[in-house]
Amino acid sequence: MAARHFLTLNDMTTTELENLVDHGTKLRSEWRQGKVRDSLKNRVLAMIFEKSSTRTRVSFEAGMTQLGGSAMFLSPRDTQLGRGEPIEDSAIVISSMVDAVMIRTFAHETVEKFAKTSRAPVINALTDDFHPCQLLADMQTYREHRGSIRGATVAWIGDGNNMCHSYINAATQFDFHLNIATPEGYEPNPELVKAHSSRITLMQEPAEAARNANLLVTDVWASMGQEDEQKAREKAFSNYQINPALMGIAAKDALLMHCLPAHRGEEISADMIDHPGSVIWDEAENRLHAQKALLEFLILNRLD
Ligand code: CP
Ligand code: NVA
Repeated sequence: MAARHFLTLNDMTTTELENLVDHGTKLRSEWRQGKVRDSLKNRVLAMIFEKSSTRTRVSFEAGMTQLGGSAMFLSPRDTQLGRGEPIEDSAIVISSMVDAVMIRTFAHETVEKFAKTSRAPVINALTDDFHPCQLLADMQTYREHRGSIRGATVAWIGDGNNMCHSYINAATQFDFHLNIATPEGYEPNPELVKAHSSRITLMQEPAEAARNANLLVTDVWASMGQEDEQKAREKAFSNYQINPALMGIAAKDALLMHCLPAHRGEEISADMIDHPGSVIWDEAENRLHAQKALLEFLILNRLD
């Protein structure tokens, strides 16, 4: 049987995604009760990181260990990946020795190329275009705090980046409406926007996006790889901060998420991280539980 991959949210059906989210919640509560689970005993996850990470690395590595398996950190600096060995060759070799491969890289095409010749499931742990693992955690967190997100309004405030793109896919898969407020020139990918046009509304005014929204979400103004644009972006995004005033026009019980790391004083005011509507710390912890669910699903082909 060909391996199932998770390169974007579109690699799963809505039912599979909803089951994953529920399974993540179950794993979270089992883990909190101290229950031992060894569903991935002797299984190995290879983790290829071409960009920095705190949450993704810790959650995948801890997750594999907690399920009885192990994870191996591979950096291009000390593997042949950094010396030009073709991705397709690396994929054949690495996937012949491990049970799943997780990749964080720049071009989305790299994970697609890897998946093409990989015998093992490949997980996109962030590319320039998508960050689907974060959305599993975000959807799990919303559900745990507010129940189904179906029919809700979500406001994306800021850059039309990889996180925004994954929110666009999520709007269709989880059936919510997404208001996207970006400065001119920083809109999400037009093809993706077109493909999901019935679920999303593009605008430039953050207040218009946030009004009566059930969930406000933002992310850094300059993503990894855009460090030299920081100054220009600070100027372009100066009105795109989530702060108490913006939160105040959202729905009364609105939630706030941020995938982290956060730049306090830029996309989010310092006081918002611990605002009563903020579920940012739960969201971060849920990376662990959501990905444990994902690993079980991809490696064992089942959730139980
Ligand atoms: N949110 C997220 O992916 O964080 P890291 O970059 O620390 O992995
Ligand atoms: N958009 C950010 C997300 C970090 C988790 C980046 O790509 O750097």
